[in-house]
Amino acid sequence: MLNNFYILNLFKRVNEKKKIIIAIDGYSSTGKSTFAKEIAKMLGYTYIDSGAMYRAATLYCLENNLIAGDKIKTDELINDLDNIDISFQYNSGSHLFETLLNGKNVEEKIRTVYVSNYVSPVSKIKELREKMVAIQRNMGKDKGIVMDGRDIGTVVFPQADLKIFMTASAHIRAQRRYDELIEKGMDVSFKEIENNILERDRIDSGREISPLKKADDAIALDNSNISIEEQMKWLMNIIEEKLTK
Ligand code: DC
Repeated sequence: MLNNFYILNLFKRVNEKKKIIIAIDGYSSTGKSTFAKEIAKMLGYTYIDSGAMYRAATLYCLENNLIAGDKIKTDELINDLDNIDISFQYNSGSHLFETLLNGKNVEEKIRTVYVSNYVSPVSKIKELREKMVAIQRNMGKDKGIVMDGRDIGTVVFPQADLKIFMTASAHIRAQRRYDELIEKGMDVSFKEIENNILERDRIDSGREISPLKKADDAIALDNSNISIEEQMKWLMNIIEEKLTK
């Protein structure tokens, strides 16, 4: 167990300095959000899941007939961008921000396999990305934020004070995602999940605009075989190093 006194002390020391921006990027299902939430909780920062915004935009496309078969109706989506309002609402019970699409809480809906299957192609659209990046930068203007995604350290906050790039083997990632969905009572197959992860890796890393890649100054973390506790210890060592510099 992490020592509570130690965490409080570290928290105090980080907050005595100026608030910082922490950017966490990486492949799908590497546990970015679990890690980011823990860090935000420890530092008393806001956690923002930027993937949720692309998921909400994808849900909008699905609900508004902007996807036909496998094809995104890109021009129509671009014309419709002003009608897509994505925001976050603080849930005082979970202490987390939940995603709103045009004022409606879509937190559950955006996590379905149905949305996951279309989110990478939708995320390739330049005009949509520009809109999302503007919202994300605005959320980070007062710092004190942990944001996870694919382009946070490279595009959204290239000046972030701490950047982490997460990886894990595809099989382990698929297993984690599968367990999570089964626990939520969803009817999914392991193969379907694994294929979706591999396909999203391919599209997210290969796209022309803001591809998923490690920022030069990001610290890599492969968490295939380590627990969240070990990750937190690893992070605290890094924060200690930064504080003593
Ligand atoms: O983090 P996630 O798996 O919920 O993200 C869903 C998709 O959104 C992911 O496959 C790619 C896209 N995404 C993105 O392009 N840029 C981000 N900053 C975050 C997510």
